[in-house]
Amino acid sequence: MKKVNIAVVGATGMVGRTFLKVLEDRDFPYENLYLFASARSAGKILTCKGETYTVEELNENSFDRDIDIALFSAGGDTSKKFAPIAASNGVTVVDNSSAWRMDPEVPLVVPEVNAEDISWNKGIIANPNCSTIQAVVALEPLYETYGIERIVYSTYQAVSGSGVKGVSDLEEGLKGNNTCKAYPHPIANNCLPHIDVFLENGYTKEEMKMIDETKKIIGDYDLKITATTVRVPVFYSHSESINIQLKKPFEVEDIKSLMDGSEGIVLMDNVSENIYPLASLAAGTDPVYVGRIRRDFSIENGLNLWVVADNIRKGAATNAVQIAERLIETL
Ligand code: A2P
Repeated sequence: MKKVNIAVVGATGMVGRTFLKVLEDRDFPYENLYLFASARSAGKILTCKGETYTVEELNENSFDRDIDIALFSAGGDTSKKFAPIAASNGVTVVDNSSAWRMDPEVPLVVPEVNAEDISWNKGIIANPNCSTIQAVVALEPLYETYGIERIVYSTYQAVSGSGVKGVSDLEEGLKGNNTCKAYPHPIANNCLPHIDVFLENGYTKEEMKMIDETKKIIGDYDLKITATTVRVPVFYSHSESINIQLKKPFEVEDIKSLMDGSEGIVLMDNVSENIYPLASLAAGTDPVYVGRIRRDFSIENGLNLWVVADNIRKGAATNAVQIAERLIETL
């Protein structure tokens, strides 16, 4: 693979640090690596592939140098301001925030599903929401083979999706200190049906992200989708129950074989041995794990899946780095 110059914006954050780990794990072929964060972090030292790098304060001039790809995870406001500046300097931005995801001029990409959309980028490519990424990896082979009529998402999402504050709320809560920095209620011993803000239609923003982003990535705006997203007291990996009505009849064994051979998926489905995807097993790894594959007898062509993936890796950093790997092929 061609070697490129790469920047990480938000390098000191939870996803930013995981970018560095994933670049190292996948031996991403970079020549130079530049790390940016806020003024608070300027001068901090981080390591990647055994080399040390000094974090610089992000400013308007940060991209006045030979950078090919910038991985952004520094919040929506930072992306809104700095991604266009980077793009106008010839940098291709892969942005992990929600700032650009629904912009019709910006591709929203999960490489296993719609890598071809990378080609029409105008300097910014959006990385989808963590819970959407793992869902569409599992849905893509079903969509291609059987067609999909309707999807019902129910999620069980880890506190690391709320960053350091979410992790701290659970750690403290488990010690009996129910401080609520990230959530309106204690997360220890609770399931909170409330991720991101409530909207006028009664859904949360997270639920609408899953609905809208799934349609954009799969490229089918007629899909019928509903979602309930729930924060649970788990540190890493999101779990999802996905109920699907397919367009064509199917055999459960064929669905298992299809999942087993699909890119990015690891099938874990042997209930007689208590084998099914678990958050604790997925944590720190890149695949999307699929199991509990069974017929939904209540509707025609109904199917149930249990889908688990590490929300910080495949749900954020790994997906962005995979996009960057595909980008290198086009540079
Ligand atoms: P810093 O650590 O200096 O605050 P997380 O999502 O885990 O909170 O991480 C957010 C990341 O985005 C951090 O690296 C943070 O840097 C960075 N960040 C936040 N605000 C800005 C900003 N205005 N300019 C550049 N980086 C920012």
